[in-house]
Amino acid sequence: MANLRTCVFPCAGFGTRFFPATKVVPKEMLPLVDKPILQYGIEEARDSGFDKLIIVTSKGKDSILDHFDRTSELERSLRERQKLDLLAEVETVSRMVDLIAVRQKDALGLGHAVLVSKDAVGNEPFAVILPDDVILADEPCLLQMRRVFEETGRPVVALMEVQPEETSRYGIVAGSPDGGRRFRITDMVEKPKSNPPSRYAIIGRYILPPEIFPQLQKTPRGAGGEIQLTDAMRALVREGDFYGYVFEGKRYDAGEKLGYLKATVDYALRHPALADEFREYLKSLFDDGKASQSSRPTARRASARR
Ligand code: UTP
Repeated sequence: MANLRTCVFPCAGFGTRFFPATKVVPKEMLPLVDKPILQYGIEEARDSGFDKLIIVTSKGKDSILDHFDRTSELERSLRERQKLDLLAEVETVSRMVDLIAVRQKDALGLGHAVLVSKDAVGNEPFAVILPDDVILADEPCLLQMRRVFEETGRPVVALMEVQPEETSRYGIVAGSPDGGRRFRITDMVEKPKSNPPSRYAIIGRYILPPEIFPQLQKTPRGAGGEIQLTDAMRALVREGDFYGYVFEGKRYDAGEKLGYLKATVDYALRHPALADEFREYLKSLFDDGKASQSSRPTARRASARR
């Protein structure tokens, strides 16, 4: 079986759901406690055995690459001032991975972002991580999925069960359980308005064969003038076995404000240096009804800021 070592990170979207914060700062660089969102995805790929990491960027997103680059001046200054803990953290990030950058010149959708990585990926199966889908899990989500790929040699997407009223926000799969957490997919529908074929939503982790590229090249622009990855994956579903895996863990949509806040709270409550004090702070807000009331801005205070 072909070696699975490449992971693509599409990072070229506009991040409009997080405006105005993401007007200039890429959403992948927003901090989740003390690391940028993208770093969690990079660590997941590394911990799942991927060592060829491809970032799809666009204009204005160079800070993504800078973050994982050496910062010699900063490192020298920290060394001179004997700030060795900070130095170790900075060096860990720059030594973590070597990245390959490819550019998506027009934001023509996720399918197009994956297509522009074609030459960098080559003729091998590869994974895709959408960095704003942050997954907190004991075992990295992509590692869970890698096992299914190694057992079957077939494409795998991560699935999450959602509430019936949420199905219209996701790509939803049709098919049947295939033992344990595995699901055999027979079709997929992007954001069904009614009659979803199941409650299993595709979230931002994929293991795909190189045959996805010719499908993407053939895929016409769909909703919003974008080339949809789901459309190309549907063509693969028709050609052979295609699996879903209901991953173990919790997923946050950190690309929108509420999901980002939830992720921030949960990650902070797991942070060794912050958890205890932060938990006490949250408790104080909820134990003391008055405190939570007073922390709510009044209409006058809110409008005074405008
Ligand atoms: P999203 O829809 O979550 O990201 O795309 P977006 O388009 O940046 O966000 P909103 O909807 O405007 O808030 C999923 C992933 O695909 C990437 C995004 O960067 C994100 O990681 N993407 C999307 C691209 O790389 N290129 C595109 O043309 C579109």
